[in-house]
Amino acid sequence: MTKDELLESFNLKIPVVASPMFIISQTELVKECCKNGIIGTFPALNNRSTEGFEEWLIELQESFKEWEEQTGKKAPPYGVNLIVHKTNPRVNADLEVCVRHKVPIIITSLGAVQELVDEVHSYGGLVFHDVTNLRHACKAIEAGVDGLVLVTAGAGGHAGTRNPIPFIAEIREIWDGLILLGGNISTGQDIATALQMGADIAYMGTRFINTTEAVAEDAYKQMIIDAGTDDIVYTAAVSGVPANFLKQSLTQVGITPEMWNTKNKIDFGKGLSAEAKAWKTIWSAGQGVATIKDILSVKDLIARLKKEFIAALEQQSQHLERYR
Ligand SMILES: Cc1cc2nc3c(=O)[nH]c(=O)nc-3n(C[C@H](O)[C@H](O)[C@H](O)COP(=O)(O)O)c2cc1C
Repeated sequence: MTKDELLESFNLKIPVVASPMFIISQTELVKECCKNGIIGTFPALNNRSTEGFEEWLIELQESFKEWEEQTGKKAPPYGVNLIVHKTNPRVNADLEVCVRHKVPIIITSLGAVQELVDEVHSYGGLVFHDVTNLRHACKAIEAGVDGLVLVTAGAGGHAGTRNPIPFIAEIREIWDGLILLGGNISTGQDIATALQMGADIAYMGTRFINTTEAVAEDAYKQMIIDAGTDDIVYTAAVSGVPANFLKQSLTQVGITPEMWNTKNKIDFGKGLSAEAKAWKTIWSAGQGVATIKDILSVKDLIARLKKEFIAALEQQSQHLERYR
């Protein structure tokens, strides 16, 4: 399928993926995203076991089927994030479940593996892969992925360091497929900006933490409302690889500014559960917090994003009158 055919097939109200977020994105969020016209996603690891993850897939598919029968509409596809890395012992079992249930979109982070891409393609699924630099993008293209997620500087979670303007331009030189832009996109105006820069879809995380369906404490959501760009700290201290966190949440657990620059992960204990515990109390968010001032239902947020997006596109076209 060409890029345009793909975009058409997604049936989107606005070009947005609510990106997968550890702990935060669970089934209610995904359901509301797709039923309101965007792509909803979640990490397989957000359920504690592969069996529980499979139950979530069944719940989602039943819910979409029922909704489509009731409304006569077609919901956009949903996606599952798999961490393809040796530290994730569940990856093979979770992939098997995805294949069995024909998950429409698989979002991979870390390894772009050709076998995985082939397996997902075999049932008609798509693979989007997270990249933070040109070298990783080349590898992912070689592996046959269907979309590149460009995770740029200032993004929530494990952000990259690239500015989106040159990064998109350099990827566009070698790839005319689907580009999803991740990092700091919080408003409809930002979505229009992403498209203007050459992306096809906005990949939004932090903005969706401040929805009623997101699984995040009220204090986390309030900290996002109160934060500006100065409150986002890029540090490897929590995960061993750099990620963006809310400064106040680092301070709350005693991670002082002297510790931010450490290249080594603070020892929270061993394995996935220790990392999960850390992410429960140390809250990640991107610089896009600067324009997040409320908590909305997913439905209301998407309605507002759409209004802002259309207004921004109209405003862009007004420049034509002056500069053409
Ligand atoms: C709290 C939090 C948890 C995240 N967890 C994951 C994850 O488990 N897997 C993943 O691929 N990306 C994860 N991300 C990254 C997002 O999917 C996405 O790349 C990023 O949020 C986009 O930038 P933005 O937050 O500035 O919109 C996470 C981001 C946040 C804020």
